[in-house]
Amino acid sequence: MNHAYRTLGKEGPQLSPIGIGCWQFSRGANAVGRYWDDVGEEDMQAIVRASLAGGINWFDTAEVYGNGASERALADALDREEASLETVYIADKWWPAGRKASSIEKTIGARRDALNQRPIALYQIHQPFSFSSAGKEMEAMLALKHRGEIGEIGVSNFNEKRMLEAYDTLHAEGVPLASNQIKYSLLDRRAEQNGLFDTCRELGISVIAYSPLEQGLLTGKYHQDPDAIKKKRGPRKWMGRFRSGYLEKTKPLMNLLEATAEHHEATVSQVVLSWMVHYHGDLVFAIPGASSEKHAAEHAGALNVRLSDNEAEQISKASWDVQL
Ligand SMILES: NC(=O)c1ccc[n+]([C@@H]2O[C@H](COP(=O)([O-])OP(=O)(O)OC[C@H]3O[C@@H](n4cnc5c(N)ncnc54)[C@H](OP(=O)(O)O)[C@@H]3O)[C@@H](O)[C@H]2O)c1
Repeated sequence: MNHAYRTLGKEGPQLSPIGIGCWQFSRGANAVGRYWDDVGEEDMQAIVRASLAGGINWFDTAEVYGNGASERALADALDREEASLETVYIADKWWPAGRKASSIEKTIGARRDALNQRPIALYQIHQPFSFSSAGKEMEAMLALKHRGEIGEIGVSNFNEKRMLEAYDTLHAEGVPLASNQIKYSLLDRRAEQNGLFDTCRELGISVIAYSPLEQGLLTGKYHQDPDAIKKKRGPRKWMGRFRSGYLEKTKPLMNLLEATAEHHEATVSQVVLSWMVHYHGDLVFAIPGASSEKHAAEHAGALNVRLSDNEAEQISKASWDVQL
């Protein structure tokens, strides 16, 4: 087992480079949650168990994932596993749509209840579009932090400008901005080109990459069986990236990933995740979602896959040719 944990941000907890995304635990409880097929309670338990057994020590959830359904399912599963309150971490997110920053303090009690009072190691602003400035949002987050209700402070989907506004407000109080959770994958490397990665590296802000498997595309299973996506509940079946044209275009990358996986006696998704969390040093954490125990076990197994510099570079080159 690979115990090469790394610090979140400048002074956050020691986290496994791969955490588990829990959007899939939403149980179809709201429109956001109906993106995915329902995952049953036993499967969620098995996902959490396999993740912990494989060395993963943190989970990402959010208020908006089923209006608390994901938070509750995660906390209940962690309780049943008797997971440590000190060394197993939860990253949660406040939902900003139609709200002001004042809602951050008003809703924290409900979030903590949904999490069975388990500590929130990282609390993130889910999206950049509240009615308040990033500065006001950070003032509310600071108040929670000073009261000991949350650990680290993070943002999500923030562009460089808004991220810097958040960073400056916290910095003035001597508190670091721990992370920016953004979409980043081998098929979507915009953050390497628009200055976000450089600024994060410079300021000690961790990047948390969501949809690292491009929602299943980078596992290779939809290349093998393109019709399989039609049986899924959510909107993926209507997305251009799951259509034959893009599946065909990405074949050279997938072939390389498959050959690399074979060489390492690993799976394609494990090669992808290993690339994600090592290619940029310690900058990037990845939070793949799982809809079965098998997926979670694979994600955890990726902690033990290490590509050579040459392999990682070849994958990088092939990926630039097939960006979304
Ligand atoms: N901050 C944000 O705005 C934001 C946005 C999106 C996601 N997130 C977070 O990031 C997490 C991950 O992102 P994501 O769920 O969008 O995408 P993802 O991790 O790229 O894809 C997850 C999906 O891929 C499939 N999959 C995963 N592992 C597999 C394996 N080994 N073999 C075959 N299929 C596999 C499963 O779906 P199927 O089996 O149905 O194909 C699974 O539900 C979420 O759970 C959430 O916590 C955050």
